[in-house]
Amino acid sequence: MSAPRNVVVIGAGPAGYVCAIRLAQLGQKVTVVEKAQVGGTCLNIGCIPSKALIAAGSLLERISHADAMGITAEGVKLDVAKLVEWKSGIVGKLTGGVAGLLKNHKCAYLEGTAKITGQNSVEVTGKDGKQTLKADDIVIATGSIPIEIPGFAFDEKQVWSSTGALAPDRIPKHIVVIGGGYIGLELGLMYQKLGSQVTVLEATGGALPGQDRDCVKVIERSMKKRKVKLMTETFAQGFEAKGDQLFVRVKTKQGEDTIECDQILSTVGRRPYSAGLGLESVGLKTDERGFLPVDKQMRTKVPNIYAIGDIAGQPMLAHKGSKEGLVAAAVIAGQPEEYDVRCVPAVIFTAPEMAAVGLTEDECAEKGIAVHVGKFPFAASGRAMSLMETEGFVKVVADAKTDEVLGVQMVGPEVTELIAEAALAIEMGATAEDIARTIHAHPTLPEAMMEAAEGVHTMAVHIYQKK
Ligand code: NAI
Repeated sequence: MSAPRNVVVIGAGPAGYVCAIRLAQLGQKVTVVEKAQVGGTCLNIGCIPSKALIAAGSLLERISHADAMGITAEGVKLDVAKLVEWKSGIVGKLTGGVAGLLKNHKCAYLEGTAKITGQNSVEVTGKDGKQTLKADDIVIATGSIPIEIPGFAFDEKQVWSSTGALAPDRIPKHIVVIGGGYIGLELGLMYQKLGSQVTVLEATGGALPGQDRDCVKVIERSMKKRKVKLMTETFAQGFEAKGDQLFVRVKTKQGEDTIECDQILSTVGRRPYSAGLGLESVGLKTDERGFLPVDKQMRTKVPNIYAIGDIAGQPMLAHKGSKEGLVAAAVIAGQPEEYDVRCVPAVIFTAPEMAAVGLTEDECAEKGIAVHVGKFPFAASGRAMSLMETEGFVKVVADAKTDEVLGVQMVGPEVTELIAEAALAIEMGATAEDIARTIHAHPTLPEAMMEAAEGVHTMAVHIYQKK
């Protein structure tokens, strides 16, 4: 075995900490440098706290709708401080767990801001001053930060970024959400469930640009039912405050308007973060969108400097960053590894939830691939009925010639869990027939996946399909 390499990982989010642990497992010497908290955006101010609060909102909603099941709950109350404390407890357990894992794997952990000062050196400024680390390899995993638009600087009081929205001291009466993408819809719908009136301003012609329009239609319909107002082709221009009331000026196709609210949440996207990282000292440059170009082994132009996670390109998703971390670790340890995946699943915790993996029908059409599509509605699923969640469907897109599954899109109950089967199918080159022939336990939601796969050949049993 060759001598262990000295690796400095910059950033302890789901890309960086996963890379560090795998490097240690493969016998390398690792130092992780983090300027904020271990766990990064995902664990501290992103995926985990948002899913905790969304779960609470969904529970509150279920309780208030349980009368159809003969359950009447009276005097249901929400204690915001306790809710936030519960959420922080989950974050604390997870970040503590990651810190423990790093320690058990003998990864050194340095709190401070890292700056690359040469191909083999990283300067760290911490509360006790500066120190320089020598490195055989450097892994950049600095993540991304929320984009600010003119007129809506984040003060986390009147104008929340997702960070402020995940640590509320009250539930706003009326919240205006700027941006109808992933975060805007997840948090907007969460606040609706927690009792807010919600208006979403979206610049394009519909919510969740780029996602399967059939699925998005179901979410837009549900928003309407919930009285969440979605204003499309709408741009926020600025706002004025009068006491606690905020007046948001918007430009729509019809002209200019003002919306009164008591909270603004701006979620217009995130951008990769590399400010002050010293990239110029080694001749590295980000592209016009701020990403660091990498090859399939996660190497930047400088062969011993790697980039993983949000800084390394789209999609900016935790699980894609973790995968890249595993690849970079294996490459550094001398293994013949590369980032070679067929698909990256996407999960959106809206109401209902949406999930997708692989190609959509539209994308196949653009690429000139002929497809057969099978679709199964949750309205025909016994399990969905017993959960009182029958909105939505599963759609399987298969190659018309080979029957290979090219993509799966879902909207409905627990689809953020169900998508795992679809990702496995695509990754393993399964056909729609493979899925259709696999026994799926009854009564469960995954049966919808089996039926949609049968539907590809117009053979779904529990819905009538005209041949
Ligand atoms: P996004 O890119 O998903 O959505 C931003 C939205 O804002 C777009 O629909 C865009 O058209 C709109 N927009 C942009 N400028 C605007 C303006 N001036 N006025 C009105 N609308 C405007 O970005 P988002 O929601 O901030 O999420 C950031 C990243 O975080 C995403 O890349 C996503 O991958 C990741 N994320 C993933 C989640 C998950 O996996 N469940 C959950 C939340 C975020």
